[in-house]
Amino acid sequence: MIRVAIVGTGNIAHMHMEGLLTFPERCKVVALCDIYPEKAEAMKKKYGLDCEVFNDHRAMLASGVNIDLVHVCTPPYVHCEIAVNSMNAGCNVVVEKPMATCLAECDEMLEAEERNHVTMACIAQNRFRNSIYKLKKTADSGLAGKICLAQVESAWWRGHCYYDLWWRGTWEKEGGGPTLNHAVHHIDMLNWLEGRLPKEVMALLTNVMHDNAEVEDLSLACLRYEDGSLAQITSSVVHHGEEQGITLQCADARISAPWEVKAEVSQGNGFPKPEGNAELIEKLETYYREIPDLVYEGHTGEIDDVLTALETGGRPLITGVDGKRTVEVITAIYLSGFSGQKVMLPIQKEDPGYTFEGILKNAVHFYEKTTSVENFEEEKITLGNYQ
Ligand SMILES: NC(=O)c1ccc[n+]([C@@H]2O[C@H](COP(=O)([O-])OP(=O)(O)OC[C@H]3O[C@@H](n4cnc5c(N)ncnc54)[C@H](O)[C@@H]3O)[C@@H](O)[C@H]2O)c1
Repeated sequence: MIRVAIVGTGNIAHMHMEGLLTFPERCKVVALCDIYPEKAEAMKKKYGLDCEVFNDHRAMLASGVNIDLVHVCTPPYVHCEIAVNSMNAGCNVVVEKPMATCLAECDEMLEAEERNHVTMACIAQNRFRNSIYKLKKTADSGLAGKICLAQVESAWWRGHCYYDLWWRGTWEKEGGGPTLNHAVHHIDMLNWLEGRLPKEVMALLTNVMHDNAEVEDLSLACLRYEDGSLAQITSSVVHHGEEQGITLQCADARISAPWEVKAEVSQGNGFPKPEGNAELIEKLETYYREIPDLVYEGHTGEIDDVLTALETGGRPLITGVDGKRTVEVITAIYLSGFSGQKVMLPIQKEDPGYTFEGILKNAVHFYEKTTSVENFEEEKITLGNYQ
């Protein structure tokens, strides 16, 4: 039985709780911790748990409560501190996205994992979503050919007051806008689909709708890979309709999430045949259709994977190395957006943008945050529009 603690009992902690409660024979929540302990108490009551409540993660780790696994569900700026303290106390860790707010913190967390011989997983629950999982399988089949262009639409919509919450909308506590906090999902998927990182990144950042936030609310980035192929990423919280998706323009076909296939084939003059490549389209449709559905999707799917890794001594699907690779692409987008210059990957340790201090020093403040709300009355959130 894996004994679990959740640190940070806000919105997303409920998805963790529901995932954990799906496996009552495999894990048990033994502690909840929040700097607002009444939120942890309310969660304990809501789920009828028999567990301890703490208002400080250090006190929780020192309390003598036996904990195997800590889920870090706090704002990004404390992910590193809480994860490292938990691993130093001998606990395995699941960290919510983004893994951390800079590459130096990611390194600190990876070092703590290795030093303490524990396991760290990073949340990227959309890999456990049928549309993304099946797209990955189909891309890996090679039927569509090599990826020439990946088009990533991380399109979300958030109202003005979204950035009134105390930790949001600041470089210091949220670590960035939708490029970090929303597109983190799509950038993880992109890295997973591509199986590699780009070599160069150019980006533009702006804030068009949220004058209560320091951070961007919209960014466009162009990525180039070693073989010359490209990716484009839109990261936004100003998109009405939240039409999210990833399209892979491959050498022989176009495949995407939401699922759709198109495949051209040439006439004698180089123009596409009107009917396209019907044979390849049928092959791809059949391949996709025959992939069995995942048993568990989203957070529950990832929690099942983490529990299995701990039970079997294996590795989780989404490791700290993956979390860091996502932070690296995001950091490159920010550094390019701040400077107007192209950024080369890998980002070197000597680069000022490697550390949080360096990012804070270079970050563009679009607006200053003047309103700060401790907690919203409304607790319901949505987790994206994946079909
Ligand atoms: N995977 C997803 O789809 C998804 C969706 C939303 C949020 N998130 C991530 O989850 C994290 C939390 O976001 P949220 O929307 O739940 O925010 P939230 O504000 O609703 O919840 C965060 C909780 O952490 C508590 N907290 C803050 N600092 C703490 C500390 N030092 N120790 C203990 N508790 C502390 C807060 O009081 C709050 O209750 C963020 O990293 C966010 O990016 C992930």
